[in-house]
Amino acid sequence: MASFNLLLLPGDGIGPEVNVEVEKLVRWLDQAGVAKFEIEKDLVGGSAYDAHGVSITEEAMARAQAADAVLFGAVGGPKWDSVPYEVRPEAGLLRLRKDLGLFANLRPAICYPALAEASSLKRELVEGLDIMIVRELTGGVYFGEPKEIVTLENGEKRAVDTQLYTTHEVERIARVAFDLAAKRNNRVASAEKRNVMRTGVLWHEVVSRVHREEFAGAALEHVLADNCAMQLVRNPKQYDVIVTDNLFGDILSDVAAMLTGSLGMLPSASLGAEDPATGKRKALYEPVHGSAPDIAGKGMANPIAMIGSLGMALRYSFGLGDAADKLDLAIANVLGAGLRTRDIAGPGANAVSTSEMGDAIIAEMQRLS
Ligand code: NAD
Ligand code: IPM
Ligand code: MN
Repeated sequence: MASFNLLLLPGDGIGPEVNVEVEKLVRWLDQAGVAKFEIEKDLVGGSAYDAHGVSITEEAMARAQAADAVLFGAVGGPKWDSVPYEVRPEAGLLRLRKDLGLFANLRPAICYPALAEASSLKRELVEGLDIMIVRELTGGVYFGEPKEIVTLENGEKRAVDTQLYTTHEVERIARVAFDLAAKRNNRVASAEKRNVMRTGVLWHEVVSRVHREEFAGAALEHVLADNCAMQLVRNPKQYDVIVTDNLFGDILSDVAAMLTGSLGMLPSASLGAEDPATGKRKALYEPVHGSAPDIAGKGMANPIAMIGSLGMALRYSFGLGDAADKLDLAIANVLGAGLRTRDIAGPGANAVSTSEMGDAIIAEMQRLS
């Protein structure tokens, strides 16, 4: 039986709460004979800062490099608002993405039929929604240099972030988007702001060329990122795959999350390049949501984004597509049976706890097998 080494990085706030549910599910998959999983755990974010004074230790980085996949919860929270910028909780996540070379972030936004009412949009606009946002994750304004605050002679401060993309960075994320589209409806919308930004001009040029030379069978549409945000709430089902840069992808995926009912529903996969020798790629799986300080510690968090992220690991890192399909079905069935955490329950309706939702999904996996 195949055997995989998983590193769990639960993090802060609701991160550990949703991570417990995914760990239970991994242990169930192991016992059910789907595959063997070795689980390691480490600290990241504020919890790592409290213990070690850094947002991730070198030891944890080495473990992440060695793992077959990393399952990441969430980091951050008001407790660490005033720690030095270099060691703020979010820096641990950004270092993982950069050092592991995780340039492709896949954020699927699927509206489960049972949740069409939980969306902030009308049922007919979101029913059957299935969008894949492909976010560039290791470039752009998140990482461009210079990135600094300098004090000017007159005592004023000037803050600089640098939006920066190279041909190679755009080419490789465009290929990921077109490859994924080919397995779906073969339509790609590329979102940038070429009307304002030089990086947008290059992005548009490179995506157009990759399309023309390598994926001419796909339908490609260019859309300005602000218009894309508007289109996502006007008529989201017009999209199949959206490819965009690091910052626009961050924002557009939070918008897409709400179409599915809750930010607590959106999983993601952050993938590196395939190693030609082994066929393997570095990978980290993380819910799109953050540490949700407003509900942390209350057992209210929706674990589906985290559990769905494990589903993506089964599919993209472990070659266990059947188990991933079964997990998607288990989630759909549990929602279909009316189980809701607070975020998707609607005003006045009954809600279950994080662990009740996790247990119900495992019980459904058991029933389906
Ligand atoms: P957030 O995603 O933590 O929360 C936004 C809203 O969504 C909150 O009302 C929260 O209760 C709700 N929510 C989020 N996940 C939920 C879930 N699973 N179930 C139910 N409700 C859920 O965003 P924020 O409040 O802007 O950020 C809080 C902290 O998290 C910040 O420090 C931020 O930097 C960090 N953050 C981390 C990540 C990450 O680790 N990947 C992602 C986003 C934000
Ligand atoms: C996300 C988060 C992160 C980002 C933060 C926590 C660094 O918002 O994964 O969407 O901005 O990429
Ligand atoms: Mn975000």
